[in-house]
Amino acid sequence: MKKDIICPDFPHILHGGDYNPDQWSDCPDVLEEDMRLMKLSGCNTMTVGIFSWAKLEPSEGVFDFSFLDKTFDDVYRNGGRIILATPSGARPAWLSQKYPEVLRTFSDRRTALHGKRHNHCYTSPLYLEKTAIINGKLAERYGKHPALIMWHLSNEYGGECHCALCREAFRNWLKAKYGSLDNLNKQWWTSFWAHTYTDWSQIEPPSHIGEDCVHGLTLDWKRFVTHQTADFMRHEIESVRKYTPDIPVTTNLMGFYQGLDYREISKYIDVVSWDNYPSWKGDGSDIDLASEIACVHDLNRSLKHKPFMMMESTPSCVNWKPFNKLKRPGQHMLSSLQAIAHGSDTVQYFQWRKSRGCSEKFHGAVVDHVGNENTRVFREVSELGKRLSKLDQIVGTQTVAKAAILYDWSNQWALDDANAFCKDNKKLLPTLNNFYRPLWKRGINTDIIGFEDNFDKYSLIIAPMIYMVDGRLEKKIADFVETGGTFLATYVFGLVNENDLCHLGGTPCGSLKKVFGIISEETDTLYPDESNKVTMDDKTFTAVDLCDLIHAETADVLANYSSDFYTGMPAFTVNRYGKGKAYFIAFRDKGDFADTVVSKLLSECHITSDFDGELPYGMTAHSRTDGDSIYVFLENFSSSELSTSSKFNWTKVEDGSAVTGSKINLKPYETLILKR
Ligand code: GLA
Ligand code: ZN
Repeated sequence: MKKDIICPDFPHILHGGDYNPDQWSDCPDVLEEDMRLMKLSGCNTMTVGIFSWAKLEPSEGVFDFSFLDKTFDDVYRNGGRIILATPSGARPAWLSQKYPEVLRTFSDRRTALHGKRHNHCYTSPLYLEKTAIINGKLAERYGKHPALIMWHLSNEYGGECHCALCREAFRNWLKAKYGSLDNLNKQWWTSFWAHTYTDWSQIEPPSHIGEDCVHGLTLDWKRFVTHQTADFMRHEIESVRKYTPDIPVTTNLMGFYQGLDYREISKYIDVVSWDNYPSWKGDGSDIDLASEIACVHDLNRSLKHKPFMMMESTPSCVNWKPFNKLKRPGQHMLSSLQAIAHGSDTVQYFQWRKSRGCSEKFHGAVVDHVGNENTRVFREVSELGKRLSKLDQIVGTQTVAKAAILYDWSNQWALDDANAFCKDNKKLLPTLNNFYRPLWKRGINTDIIGFEDNFDKYSLIIAPMIYMVDGRLEKKIADFVETGGTFLATYVFGLVNENDLCHLGGTPCGSLKKVFGIISEETDTLYPDESNKVTMDDKTFTAVDLCDLIHAETADVLANYSSDFYTGMPAFTVNRYGKGKAYFIAFRDKGDFADTVVSKLLSECHITSDFDGELPYGMTAHSRTDGDSIYVFLENFSSSELSTSSKFNWTKVEDGSAVTGSKINLKPYETLILKR
């Protein structure tokens, strides 16, 4: 198996963070200290220039690269490398003042004043031109510098713009998609409430002061926002590629952020990276949180099915949550190594040094305002740096998963927009996590895949709340089961097509009725204080929120509802189809039932953890491999000491010492990195 190393010339775990020397250019002593502290902390990579445009181009067409020249040379001389950002995430005031078309317009048609960040119009030809100029200058100047290892495009692309340019671009995108207005009217079902369009110019993006009842429009607008953002990003890529064809590009994503379809965005970047800010509490709830974060790491790895980067995390606390609690001692080590366990090849921070003023002055940083190494946080970062420096052999190793969970942005957008069920709280992600957690706690590597991914490499695919199923997905699911796969779907399955039009002829759509051997007739929505009961193998489970009322055609019924007017109707079924099995769960439960079912399916599919041992609650194990060795990260997320055993004997990656499988102890928050 080939290793996939992000920077082949620098094959180490990248450790470092967002570094803002431009805020300190009149403090040479601080900049000098930064270099000493960088080495002392075991940091080897600095991400610079993210918000430096005003420094780099103080007035139109006047450039000053002196601070970056110095930073590149200083970092390189001290053994480090640089990830260079394009500065489009925050533009200079002169630019907004002279060219107001770059300002973003909100959905209520108010236009923003200059300020904040992440707020440009992504259609403005002027903004595209200005970013191309500054990006090109940066690429030309630093493209050959030996410190440069990667481009960091802008910062956390997001949001939408409703200006006249964007509205026109949207209409053109729709013309290309639908060909004729007649077709668009049909696909959006606009005969409803007299919403028929008779001219393209009548189409406006969705807005609470205008149209928000045409679901096809809302869905297409979200897709357009992704398209337009990707288009802007591709312009940025082009402007740097011209000078640096071999330097990989990334942009920092934000987990399950709903503003962009990251599957589309990630097509154009070389490496996926994301910003990870969980609210660790230091109590029992951290175990569920650890599973949720693991799931996001898996999503990011699955976007390109290769190692990714944790581009940002905080070494201590953030500043933007309602409560900004410190990481407890040991949690920084654990949450950083968790990223590596799931396929990250980096641990990076926002931020290297706390700024002195403005809104992020109290955000956690490696270097605090005290300015030296005598802090708990600096010591913990340095301790982590030491461990990371011993993990070179893991860089580029891959994750092999036999289980996958299906997640799609359009599906969630359409489901969340539906006036149905628990209208404002469909809980797709909590539901997904209820299926992910049983895999995570058993140490099962899991991919989070989309509709376009190859299904063949998995034995088990779980599809929580896949409301939108188009003809291609329908066929893929049928083929997957027919050729021997195990597929688990849940309530609200296959109700609408890719344009959010309801399928006719029964649910789930088309041939899936045969694949699953059931028909879902209705969905009952329960009030928060209501529940139903489902009994299976003498165990009773509680159904909450949503219950599909189904009948079996060819499926075997494995559990029934036991109260209300649908007592006795099937709640859990399996249908043999071709060589495989299609399972259907008709109701939502709080997690026990999902756990029971996942455990059963794992053993039916012979999927096991590479650690191969009983994992106590709070401990988990995830693996990576180069095809020869298996590396297991054994992680203890509880605040108590836990022990386990494995049928294998292991060596510790960091010092090569032997670990006998019969008894392995892990201290609170400890991670052991093992190899066999
Ligand atoms: C985001 C941004 C950073 C910083 C951090 C603070 O992830 O990308 O610039 O603002 O949040 O947590
Ligand atoms: Zn715009």
